[in-house]
This record gives sequence, structure tokens and C-alpha cells, in this order.
Amino acid sequence: MNLNCALILAAGEGTRMKADCPKVLTEVLFKPMLDWVIDAAKQGGLDDICVVTGHKHEIVEEHLAGKYNTVIQAERLGTGHAVMQAKKFLEEHRFGNVLILNGDAPLMDSNTIKSAYDYHTAKNNAVTIISAKIPNPYGYGRIIRSKEGVLKKIVEEKEATPVEKIVNEVNSGAYWFSCSVLLDALQGIVEIHDKNEKQKEYYLTDAVEVILKKGLNAVAYETESEDVVRGANDRAQLQELNEIARRKVMRKHLINGVSIPCADGVIIGPEVEIGDNTEILPGTIIKGKTTIGKRCNIGPNTLIEDSTIESNVTLNSVQCFSSEVKKGASIGPFSRIRPNCVIGENVKTGNFVEFKNANIGAATSVAHLTYIGDADVGSNVNFGCGCATANYTGKDKYRTTIGDNAFIGCDNCLVAPVKVGNNAYTAAGSVITEDVPDDALALARSKEIIKKDWVKSKKPYKWQK
Ligand code: UD1
Ligand code: CA
Repeated sequence: MNLNCALILAAGEGTRMKADCPKVLTEVLFKPMLDWVIDAAKQGGLDDICVVTGHKHEIVEEHLAGKYNTVIQAERLGTGHAVMQAKKFLEEHRFGNVLILNGDAPLMDSNTIKSAYDYHTAKNNAVTIISAKIPNPYGYGRIIRSKEGVLKKIVEEKEATPVEKIVNEVNSGAYWFSCSVLLDALQGIVEIHDKNEKQKEYYLTDAVEVILKKGLNAVAYETESEDVVRGANDRAQLQELNEIARRKVMRKHLINGVSIPCADGVIIGPEVEIGDNTEILPGTIIKGKTTIGKRCNIGPNTLIEDSTIESNVTLNSVQCFSSEVKKGASIGPFSRIRPNCVIGENVKTGNFVEFKNANIGAATSVAHLTYIGDADVGSNVNFGCGCATANYTGKDKYRTTIGDNAFIGCDNCLVAPVKVGNNAYTAAGSVITEDVPDDALALARSKEIIKKDWVKSKKPYKWQK
């Protein structure tokens, strides 16, 4: 049985972030910081996870959807106090180790977690603090070592002396603790707090001094990757984290053979998969659980969310949400695919075409200025310019069905529910309200009337010479 567990501190209000949502739900690459931290813990091999919630805890709990343990820290009295709220959870893991993570440091990664754990157990440490050297240590807890390099304590910015402030090795806020030692150290954290009038909060970092006093091993494990310590306390730091994560994700795709000739405005979410030889052009944002095949041309100025794009697809200035685009389709410029669409193989659509909740068969062409909503369209259908499915009565929505090889004339309105059969034609300018049988032509427009010499019978207008 795996006795180890993870405790994520996520109760803080994050006043400086000025966020409507709880701070830990503010996003890095469209993914809440807390989810990054949880995923790092899970990838680090930890299944038993407890999150300390506080500020707007209902929202955090709703977000976690019962997948993890939670405890509420009713008052935010510091990181040490946050840990005290999880006593019961720690007791349950008394014989194991706990990984403590800050909910606002999303770039922690599973490799660092695992190697710190190996070090923690190999050295028989009571606590292993994950640290790193960063160019600007302002705001972080400093790792204070003796001349021989032995850890003495962690000092917070507020309490640091000018000499200590120069130290640029900082505490990441991530630690491996022996659960039993941490439980025993909690009282010591309270005592240090109570002795120190100026210290307003209960600092988890004070556990280091408590543990050292007991003659146990408290060690700082310095990692090479300075990103793991980066926390986001305000929007400026959040933007820096976004930029680091954005570059990392892009680099992964570049190495996998995706081409990004210019990264301007390109944002790719962490869960996106892209096949090799696909090219991503500027201004393209790809979010959520999106998969893109090989040899696609995506962008410029394209937004894709939660969609599956097969190989050899072109999406030029397209917005595509929760839909599937099959092999070889070419969409855009300026098309919008709203949720629940399946755009078939080799479909061609041009400018100002909108799809919603529609299935479009293979090799169908919808070239210009058209709306297709709540529709099932067969393969090899041709839409003229400026067509619309009238799917909404103002109250209910109905479907339009169009058979294979049908030809929909320009400026048609298909009033649903309505069916156009296989190989059928509808004349330009038609308002189709009745089903059209296979192979038929439907004409649904007023007949043209010619009044010969009508103009001449009038007095000349001003502008006619
Ligand atoms: C903390 C560390 C600091 C470290 C830094 C790394 C302490 C005393 N300091 O400082 O050494 O360099 O992280 O980013 O631990 N939280 C609660 N309850 C509270 C207070 C905080 O759950 O009462 C949570 C916050 O939501 C946050 C995390 O703990 O996710 C860290 O809290 P924060 O106030 O941001 O600590 P820092 O000042 O950044
Ligand atoms: Ca912080």
C-alpha cells in the first residue's frame, strides 16, 4: 500500500491578484493553477490528495467535483495553520511521507517531485525542501545555510535581514515531510509564532527550525529548474508564468515536428496534441482537449477549442468549438464552427460560413456567406452563395436534411423541418418549405414579370439624359 500522500495549500485569498474567482483557479494557459499542481502531484505518483480550501471554498470544491479530499481553513492564518487543518488526513498517513505543494506555483513538475522524493528517502530526511536559485529572490522565503552549506532555516521576506535578503536560493513552497515528524512539529510552529510578536502568520517554514532542534534531518534540495519555484501572487507574475508555460508547450511541439514559423500570438494549451508537419501560423489559439492531425495548416488567426481536427486539414481564420473536422477539409477564411458539428472529409467552405450542430457529408462545398444549423447534409452537396437554414421558430428548433449530390441554389432559405432529396435541385432565390423529392427541381420564388418599354412610358428622371 502506498502510504504517501499530497497536501495542496489553496486557501489563500490572493488579494494582489484582484481576481473574482479564488486565486488558485486563475489560469495559466487556460488551465487553473490548482489543476497544474494537482496534475504534477498525480504524475509524481501520488493518488491520495487533499486540498486545503478557504477563500471562496465552495467554488474550489465545486471545481474539484469530489475527486479529491478537501479541508476548509476558515481563517487564513498562514501556511503552517493551513497544514494544521489537515491533521486528520496526515494522521491517516502517519507512516508515510507527505508532499506539500503551494496551490499558486503551477510550474512544479513530476520529475522534480520524484527526484526530490528519491533524495528524501535515500538521505532519510525528516523534511526535504525543494529550492532553486533565481535571479530576483524578492518576495520568496530565503534558504539560509551555514558556511558549510548546511541548512539552518528559511526566512520570509518580511523577517529577512539585509544580508539574508541577498541570498538568492529560495523556497519553492514544495516539501517532502515525514508525516509523523510534521505532525509533531506543528506545536513548535505555534510556539515560534507566539514568541514572535511581529510575525502575524503561522509559517510552515518554521517547521525547519523545529525539526533541526530535534536533531532530525532537514535539508534543502536545490533543483536546476528555477521555474518550479515560481509562484503567482499578482497578474504580472501570472503573465510571466503564462509566457514560460507557453514557450515550454511550443517547444514540445516544435521538437515533435510541428512547424511554428512565428510564435506571435500563438497559444497552445497543455493538453493539445498536434501531428508532425502541421504548421501553426500567428494569432492561433488552441485550447482544451484538442487533437490536430498531421500536415494541417492552422491559422493565421484561428481559435480551436475541444475539437478533433484530422490530417491534411486547412483552417484559415476559423473559430471551431467542440466539433470534428475530418481529413482533407479546407475551412475559411472567416468561418465559424459552433459546437456539435462533424465536418466531413474534403469539405470545402469559404468566407463567412457558419455551422452549428450540423453534420456535413464528404466533399460537400459551402463556399460563401451561409448558415447551416441543426442540419444533416449529405456528401457532395453544393451550396450556392448566401443560403440559410431557418432552424428556429422563436420557440423550437428543427432540423434540415439534405441528401447526397443535392444542389442548393444561391440565396435559398430552407425552412425546417424540411428535407431535400438526393440529387435534387433547388432554384436560386427559393424559400423551401416543403420536402423536395429525390432528383426533383424545386422552384419556390415568384415568377419574373417583364413589362416591356415600361421605362420609356415614364417621364425621364432627373438623372437620365
Ligand atoms: C510561501 C512560503 C515561502 C515560499 C513561497 C513560494 C511560507 C511562510 N512561505 O510564501 O517561503 O518562498 O511560498 O511561493 O510558507 N495558503 C493557505 N492558507 C493560508 C496562507 C496561504 O492555504 O493561510 C496557501 C496559499 O493559497 C498559497 C500557498 O499557501 O497557495 C502559499 O501562500 P502565500 O501566502 O502565497 O505564501 P508566500 O508568501 O508566497
Ligand atoms: Ca505565493
